[in-house]
Amino acid sequence: MTSIGVGLIGTGYMGKCHALAWNAVKPVFGEGPRPRLVHLAEVSPELAARRAEEFGFERSTSDWRELVADPEVEVVSVTTPNAFHAEMAIAALEAGKHVWCEKPMAVTLGDAERMAAVARASGKVTALGYNYIQNPVIRHIRRLLEEGAIGEVNHVRFEMDEDFMADPEALFYWKSEASSGFGALDDFGVHPLSLMQFLFGGVRRVMAQLAMPYADRPSRDGGRRKVETYDIASVLLELRNGASGVMALDRSAWGRKGRIAMQVFGSKGTIAYDQERMNEFQLFTASDRASEQGFRTILTAPVHAPYERFIPAPGHGLGFNELKIIECHELLKAIGGEAAQIVGFEQGLEIERAVHAMAQSHREQKWVGV
Ligand SMILES: NC(=O)c1ccc[n+]([C@@H]2O[C@H](COP(=O)([O-])OP(=O)(O)OC[C@H]3O[C@@H](n4cnc5c(N)ncnc54)[C@H](O)[C@@H]3O)[C@@H](O)[C@H]2O)c1
Repeated sequence: MTSIGVGLIGTGYMGKCHALAWNAVKPVFGEGPRPRLVHLAEVSPELAARRAEEFGFERSTSDWRELVADPEVEVVSVTTPNAFHAEMAIAALEAGKHVWCEKPMAVTLGDAERMAAVARASGKVTALGYNYIQNPVIRHIRRLLEEGAIGEVNHVRFEMDEDFMADPEALFYWKSEASSGFGALDDFGVHPLSLMQFLFGGVRRVMAQLAMPYADRPSRDGGRRKVETYDIASVLLELRNGASGVMALDRSAWGRKGRIAMQVFGSKGTIAYDQERMNEFQLFTASDRASEQGFRTILTAPVHAPYERFIPAPGHGLGFNELKIIECHELLKAIGGEAAQIVGFEQGLEIERAVHAMAQSHREQKWVGV
């Protein structure tokens, strides 16, 4: 396969990110098919045409079904709000396309199950937007864990905080609607859950408490609208590897910009990482001489693959958009029949099950198995 036809639905924050990845993946990685940017869909013909021109797509439409029916489109990026993921991904799979869908997979567990079933029946490749597992730092942490660098992992702690919903007077938008899901759980929680799946094999049972810091927000019509989602979640976890865990999520945490803080405690050491400083991690090993024990900061470098594909010099750093380019490359590897590091719809369903178990736990105030 020398080229692959790409369709992109949605051109907001994530749509642009996917477009950058489709444009950059060949120059960065060299190998694999050259993406041909064929068709782009947005809500209006004007916006679709403008974005197609900016992103380099050949044609555009305000009807995403036209894009899905386009025989020259072989893989579809779904980057619309959560409520559309299931319908669009299923239609694309049924039309014989591979699908790269943003997280969360779906709003209801039933929809996620249908997506996984259709993907299975289609034989096409699916990938969800769990970009944080693509960080060379996270890949290296997995290697260290496999090598036993910190011994047996017995406890993990994850915090994910941002402040884009911290202002009580911020306008009501789709993320406060129940049609987007539970709130912090499926907006944020799925990311730490993808890391837990990647690093520790997933979650066995959960106990959750959800909270809503603001009951209503100003709406575009000048009135106020009742908030329907929970911006805060606190969760106790039992991982499949037997370790205990804590996950704390907050979309209205003033001052936190892109925090995904992870601490992994083992019998021989500790690893700490924070997405706000995504080009480094901290390693403490108890085998160091007591007089020099302490956390070491390790900066990313060409030895941490695939950093070297972007930059030959150590310490210069990758950014969020580079994670998406790596994710895109992994998707293309999977489409080419190679082993790849992506969260397909099958594994994504496990993450959705954990999210829905957490919501059930909050409702029933008890531990729930995943
Ligand atoms: N992987 C990540 O780290 C990450 C980060 C942010 C958002 N997301 C996910 O990406 C998705 C989109 O979020 P966003 O922040 O980019 O939202 P956004 O509001 O910035 O963009 C969504 C775009 O979809 C378009 N759209 C809506 N309905 C459409 C339709 N029927 N046909 C065509 N286009 C349509 C909108 O006009 C808009 O341009 C969400 O599911 C979100 O959870 C993932």
